[in-house]
Amino acid sequence: MGSINNKRIFTPYHHSPCTRTHQIGALLLVTATFILTRLFDQTLSPCYSSLLDHDRSSPENLLRISDSGGSLSWPQRGYGSQLSLKIYIYDENEIDGLKSLLYGRDGTISADSCVKGQWGTQVKIHRLLLQSRFRTRKKEEADLFFVPAYVKCVRMMGGLNDKEINQTYVKVLSQMPYFRCSGGRDHIFVFPSGAGAHLFRSWARYINRSIILTPEGDRTDKRGTSAFNTWKDIIIPGNVDDGMTKHGPTLVQPLPLSKRKYLANYLGRAQGKAGRLRLIELANQYPDKLESPDLKFKGSEKLGRMDYFQHLRNAKFCLAPRGESSWTLRFYESFFVECVPVILSDEAEFPFQNVIDYTQISIKLPSTHIGPQLLDYLASIPDEDIERMIAHGRQIRCLWVYAPESEPCSAMQGILWELQRKVRQFHLSAETFWLHNGSIVNRDLVEFTNWKLPLPLP
Ligand SMILES: *[C@@H]1O[C@H](CO)[C@@H](O)[C@H](O)[C@H]1NC(C)=O
Ligand SMILES: *[C@@H]1O[C@H](CO)[C@@H](O)[C@H](O)[C@H]1NC(C)=O
Ligand SMILES: *[C@@H]1O[C@H](CO)[C@@H](O)[C@H](O)[C@H]1NC(C)=O
Repeated sequence: MGSINNKRIFTPYHHSPCTRTHQIGALLLVTATFILTRLFDQTLSPCYSSLLDHDRSSPENLLRISDSGGSLSWPQRGYGSQLSLKIYIYDENEIDGLKSLLYGRDGTISADSCVKGQWGTQVKIHRLLLQSRFRTRKKEEADLFFVPAYVKCVRMMGGLNDKEINQTYVKVLSQMPYFRCSGGRDHIFVFPSGAGAHLFRSWARYINRSIILTPEGDRTDKRGTSAFNTWKDIIIPGNVDDGMTKHGPTLVQPLPLSKRKYLANYLGRAQGKAGRLRLIELANQYPDKLESPDLKFKGSEKLGRMDYFQHLRNAKFCLAPRGESSWTLRFYESFFVECVPVILSDEAEFPFQNVIDYTQISIKLPSTHIGPQLLDYLASIPDEDIERMIAHGRQIRCLWVYAPESEPCSAMQGILWELQRKVRQFHLSAETFWLHNGSIVNRDLVEFTNWKLPLPLP
């Protein structure tokens, strides 16, 4: 697994998006445009003002403008030359109800069974944070708070129904004074599936200010509103099978381009989705170019794990059409069998867009372009261009792997950087005011330090 290039280059976006595509010479896939979201170094307890306590003259913490030329000197943590975060993780025994969100109403759903499959991120992120050097056991000093829950899995296994999930979340949140202090703005939730935060029915009422980690940037299917908000939420990579992402020999190894039987493939269920149905039809028309069988979820036509990856590696391009929702695990899996992903899901959002140049590792076409012209276009791409994209993909794919923090590059690293950018000085903006001398006060001009708990839920 390659390691990411640590060199950060500030990239002003002065190129037009189209000429950017042609910057093939640019070797740096990983550039940083960490925009400062944070002017001050430390946020103390949410019910306590960092400003009051903070040594404001500490030079590395503040945004400064030099007297002479007016040049900006960004604070260390603002740009992200280093990760420096304190995350509190709620303990399952600390809050009544949290255990049900983790193991179901009877406590019988095992985390080990939930860690597998495309929704395993809900467990993996929790486990990685528990081991993280950025974990703090003191709420007073936490920048952020992590609320663990494996509800996607628990729900699939019948451990809780939608109504219970909703009620349990509300019960859990109402026992968290720190959640109230911030209006939930410094609390982190993982929702690993296409439904996003909709898994918690009343999410909009209770956690609409919280930081939501989800692979899904858009939920238009079956729902009127998207739960994703680009200002505060974070797109995370899907969970690729451990057998494919581990160091050493993987479950299935990539094939040389010349040995691949197909130009393109799509291996997934149709789920009655227009784009996917068109692909199956197209495969019937062009069986030598496109492999796209009508797969079933169960029974003999379901591919085993090994079979699936063996088929996936047998094409130069792996098509990733929209399903129930816009994100698709196939996009991430492509990098491990080394086919070039072709995104055919218009609303799809991708993780770490500030540091990854997706134009160098994938192709995205309007989903309306599914047809013979799609295959003609893909066939016209020279092998050397394909090899180049694959090589770039090989460099960044470590960012899709939920590896331990000791790895220099991992999904968790990317997520931690994103989280660092989310730390804010103020918590409940609409209820936060400040005076000439830096005192933070509430609407009644009571100093922040004297705010009384509990504050009302947002
Ligand atoms: C979720 O639970 C809360 C608290 O019990 C309740 O007020 C709310 O109506 C529920 N939401 C839905 C959509 O059922
Ligand atoms: C969050 O919910 C509150 C209460 O329902 C509502 O007043 C507010 O507008 C919502 N905020 C966002 C960003 O949706
Ligand atoms: C700031 O000013 C207010 C109002 O004059 C005063 O009540 C408060 O104690 C002052 N705070 C500090 C930290 O000096």
